[in-house]
Amino acid sequence: MPHYFLILKATMKKIISTFSAISLLLGVAFTWNKCSVSNFQETKATVLQEKMGEAEKYYGNYCASCHGTQVKDFVDREKWVYGSARMELFNVVKNGAEEDGMPAYGEVISDKKVYALVDYILAAIEDKKSEVFNSGDNPDVVFESAGMQLKLELVAENAASPWAITQSKAGRLFYTDKSGKLFSKKDTVIQEITGLPSVKFKGQGGLMDVILHPDFENNQRVYLSYSKFKPSDERYATTAVFSGVLESNELVNGKDIFVAEPYVNTNHHYGSRMVFDNGGFLFVSVGERGRRDDYPQFLDNDLGKIHRLNDDGTVPNDNPFTNTPGARKSIYSYGHRNPQGLCYDPVSDKLYDNEHGPKGGDEVNLVEAGNNYGWPIITYGINYIGTKITDLTHQDGMEQPIRYWVPSIATCGMAFVTSDKYPGWKGNVLSGSLKYNYLHRDVFDENDQLVQEEKLFPDIGRMRSIEQCADGYIYFGVEEPGRIYRIVPL
Ligand code: HEC
Repeated sequence: MPHYFLILKATMKKIISTFSAISLLLGVAFTWNKCSVSNFQETKATVLQEKMGEAEKYYGNYCASCHGTQVKDFVDREKWVYGSARMELFNVVKNGAEEDGMPAYGEVISDKKVYALVDYILAAIEDKKSEVFNSGDNPDVVFESAGMQLKLELVAENAASPWAITQSKAGRLFYTDKSGKLFSKKDTVIQEITGLPSVKFKGQGGLMDVILHPDFENNQRVYLSYSKFKPSDERYATTAVFSGVLESNELVNGKDIFVAEPYVNTNHHYGSRMVFDNGGFLFVSVGERGRRDDYPQFLDNDLGKIHRLNDDGTVPNDNPFTNTPGARKSIYSYGHRNPQGLCYDPVSDKLYDNEHGPKGGDEVNLVEAGNNYGWPIITYGINYIGTKITDLTHQDGMEQPIRYWVPSIATCGMAFVTSDKYPGWKGNVLSGSLKYNYLHRDVFDENDQLVQEEKLFPDIGRMRSIEQCADGYIYFGVEEPGRIYRIVPL
């Protein structure tokens, strides 16, 4: 029925412009709604974006005549007669509500299609919520997740790209701005910290991560990762880690404790997240700088790797490639693309990264000593222009991600939740989405199988950083405009 398609097209255009978050390519929304609303146990790590297109079609064919073309009837609904949970919607669509004039669709369309319709409606409702939130003067929006009610509290808005956030036990918050600035905030006082290295603020480069030494209260040691100019030729840059001691508002005795080799003349894929484990070892992620065929699969360089260092930048003698001839001794794992998220579970002693895939194929990996994560030999992604990189998604000797995203959500920032403040999220892994402007929550079981996932704070902004801080609260930073929020349970 051609005219249905015309109406649909026009409808979708409107929905997209009205609710920008539907730009979630609907595929992602499709899956998380399954999970967030009904606790549906999603075990497949993949998302099929075609399906949402079908749902849109069914809606136009079956529902729009009575409920309106823009799902508006449901989006604006304040009181639901039959309930707004996924299962309740499913029941009413399948079995109808004869007394109300709502037909039963169970006889003409499959359960699968009914679910697709329900998820389509839920996605539109979620998008509406984000629109309300972003209308600016509405700080009272309450988000619900895993049995918790959450509000967002604005903490700072003086960093255009808040690349990283951390906090001392004394409650002083530190955060970077990619342009090369480091700020602290205690109570209501924001201060700029001096004594920083000069950074190459271009493309994906700049001042990136900030973390504190595990014994910061005693030694005031701060670590920064950044894009470092090659001293002899500023067209080249690399990922480096700088460390200094904080004296009031200045880093003193600062120096580079790690400089990834080689310097490259591209402006992207620096990686650069840092985390300490229980043993006091410092892990640093370094991207492959857009040179996938040259670096990530070879151990003679530092790019496309996760490194393991002592707190002073020296190399521990029990690293996996200490005895491998020609290998860089700081390498802990390899075959990475652009890991912009790193987090650690202190209870199970597990290290996780998230990394950008190309078009499709963003990953979460369980990072273990000596492992090869396969880039670019295996991947779930394709080239940005649509051509294939490889047919391989698996290969012996290469690790599978514990989850991946198709389409890519552009992961950045990562946190492992241990805090008692968020009982519903304990043990979960949080990843920011730059591309779709939300926070992604993954629930893995003890065998690292993905059992549930959720999309949080839809359309909040390009999510750059996410951290569980010393006060037990989770903070995240977004761009355009740059803001740092604290997630406050009610
Ligand atoms: C012939 C008109 C008609 C069509 C077609 C129709 N509905 Fe309904 N529907 C109604 C009426 C009338 C009600 C009850 C009044 C109300 O809540 O709007 C209702 C109620 C509902 C409710 C329950 C709302 C609540 O408050 O609990 C849902 C969900 C729903 N419809 C979904 C759908 C979906 C999905 C489709 C397409 C598959 C559809 N309807 C097609 C007329 C229709």
